Amino acid sequence: MRLDKYLADLQVGTRKEIKEMIRKGLVTVNGEIEKDPGTSVSGEEGIICDGEPMEYQEYVYYMMNKPEGVITATEDSHQETVLDLLPERRRKDLFPVGRLDKDTKGLLLITNDGQLAHRLLSPKHHVEKTYEAWIEGLVTKLDVDRFARGVELEDFKAMPARLEILQTYVSQQDQMENKSYVRVTIHEGKFHQIKRMFEAQHKKVAALKRISMGPLTLDPDLPEGEFRELTPEEVAALKEVE
Ligand code: URA
Repeated sequence: MRLDKYLADLQVGTRKEIKEMIRKGLVTVNGEIEKDPGTSVSGEEGIICDGEPMEYQEYVYYMMNKPEGVITATEDSHQETVLDLLPERRRKDLFPVGRLDKDTKGLLLITNDGQLAHRLLSPKHHVEKTYEAWIEGLVTKLDVDRFARGVELEDFKAMPARLEILQTYVSQQDQMENKSYVRVTIHEGKFHQIKRMFEAQHKKVAALKRISMGPLTLDPDLPEGEFRELTPEEVAALKEVE
């Protein structure tokens, strides 16, 4: 791989900044100053850039706390995407694993590891996804039982899902103001699945947040709109998903 691309993948700077650093003699390869940005490197060399030893990572993994109002896509000419929330210098091969609706927030994995993404999304693996949601109206034990049996939707029958009622608010004045806070765990990821499962019970999801996907749980210290690299333990746990 070209030296400038190698350093760009490590988010050392933009291609332009990197070329400039190389030309200024700030980059050494195996102890020798290298002034050609196009020189070929394999990643096995000892590369030092502006005094910092470089360690190449083929795959990178970020946890994002997606805010409402951004779309889960890599690019869009009109709307802000989740990748727009990452810094300019990010590598170009990143993509979000799975999809959250524009008005859904919470845990989103962003990576360039296609194999892992494929495994996490494959219907074969039934990776658990847990959401917390505000629902308009009162969620009841009947809904819990229906979710547990598998809700019939227009085009498919959802697999059994775990619905837990965390809080209910009953308005004394207006029953239209009743609401419930619930946790739902599903094993699929069909389009608008949670919203459609509640719609089938004649209830509307007012707010939806994903809190976990397989072994990965949203970091409670990660503010909305921010991201962080996964820890090696989190990456290892994801790779163990069967
Ligand atoms: N289910 C939905 O309805 N929306 C999401 O964003 C995720 C799951």
